[in-house]
Amino acid sequence: MSFEPHLTKRFGIENSRKLEVARKHGAYSSLQKLFSMKPTDLIEEVKKSNLKGRGGAGFPTGMKWSFVPQNTGKPVYLCINADESEPGTFTDRYIIENDPHLLIEGIICGAWAIQCHTAYIYIRGEYANQFKMLNEALAEARAAGLVGKNIMGSGFDLEIWTHRGAGAYICGEETGLIESLEGKKGQPRIKPPFPAVEGLFGCPTIVNNVKTLAHVPWIVHNGGEAFAAIGTKDSTGSNIFGVSGHINNPGYWELPFGMHVPEFIEKYAKGVKGGKLKAFIPGGSSTPVLTAAETEDLYLTYESMMAHKTFLGTGGMIIMNDQTDMVKALKTLTHFYADESCGQCTPCREGTSWVDRILKRILAGEATTRELDMLVEIADNMEGRTICALAAACAMPVRSFVTKFRPDFEKYCKPAVYPAAAVS
Ligand code: NAI
Ligand code: SF4
Repeated sequence: MSFEPHLTKRFGIENSRKLEVARKHGAYSSLQKLFSMKPTDLIEEVKKSNLKGRGGAGFPTGMKWSFVPQNTGKPVYLCINADESEPGTFTDRYIIENDPHLLIEGIICGAWAIQCHTAYIYIRGEYANQFKMLNEALAEARAAGLVGKNIMGSGFDLEIWTHRGAGAYICGEETGLIESLEGKKGQPRIKPPFPAVEGLFGCPTIVNNVKTLAHVPWIVHNGGEAFAAIGTKDSTGSNIFGVSGHINNPGYWELPFGMHVPEFIEKYAKGVKGGKLKAFIPGGSSTPVLTAAETEDLYLTYESMMAHKTFLGTGGMIIMNDQTDMVKALKTLTHFYADESCGQCTPCREGTSWVDRILKRILAGEATTRELDMLVEIADNMEGRTICALAAACAMPVRSFVTKFRPDFEKYCKPAVYPAAAVS
């Protein structure tokens, strides 16, 4: 069956950001049907679709929406996570640049499902142009009665606000985002309670990624089963996959889940540049790295990644050729995580900077091979002991780089000298 893109279908149309053009090509056409559906029916359709969150964690969207408690007397909020900061990840921005009205339409659908009247788009500070584009689109939508009071005469009110981040990666973690929106330091909160129950200003809050919401108008139009028929059983629908690194054709493509990774590299990325494939990072730098051999039977699905003990993550792939110095590549990543740790948890604050300092010693030729084992031990002790996933996001690449590419690291190291056993 041929695949019709639905996230990128208006990309490339002249002035696609303009409301008039977007509407001519179908924008907001889901709303009439939306307002005739019961919110719970929409949640059921999204559950049937098996749409998983596209921000990286892959949590089922319909299930997340169904966690919002009803009739608490408190407002319900929807936060849209556009704080796209994961290294290697750059696709949400293209939705905002090419089709902000698709995102706004998706926000209206999501807000209807959870009966929320105030939504906040949290956009990364570096996306200054995209912030402007989003505000222009919102102003047009508001003037046309698509945002604000009594949308299209439905009786449903929804105000959408935009909020710029200030450059901290951790504000993309949903509770860090919420703290930041509340005007505090963007430091993640302990979960539970999950935001769906107690989030922004202590009220039920759903945090959804840009791409996740952008899928929903299509599901409203076509139903959950039609969406579930695209891709594979456990990885339904499509995604915008991005690729960067040593490849001939960096970029992004909307594809149904299920493509064979070597085929993707040849057909879309047009092959590895400057050598043969050495390493593959599937979905942003936080996912464990794979060797070239491991990609041979790898597919762009959640389940295939899990079978290879890694994650699909954000779908922002990074390719490294056989000229890559894996020590330097890992050092770049650990520097990032050490810099972005918010500092609340000791295993993260100390662990990220500790591994970064050891890698600096290795690169300077000052370390012994004992320190390679130490890197893995530190990584093991960082995971599962912290408030948020940032520590694990650093630990996973450290462990996978060192164990899978150990000879690269050993080249820099002196042999380990162990103290002689004590003789009694
Ligand atoms: P998570 O698995 O803890 O949560 C995922 C979502 O499900 C959250 O919204 C959470 O509130 C919800 N959830 C999970 N269990 C729940 C429950 N029992 N009740 C109610 N809600 C529940 O993952 P997390 O920490 O939110 O995200 C980590 C992922 O984010 C990583 O896999 C990484 O790939 C990705 N990431 C993406 C970035 C980007 O730029 N797009 C940046 C950094 C990380
Ligand atoms: Fe902050 Fe790191 Fe703890 Fe997350 S794991 S809350 S980034 S110190």
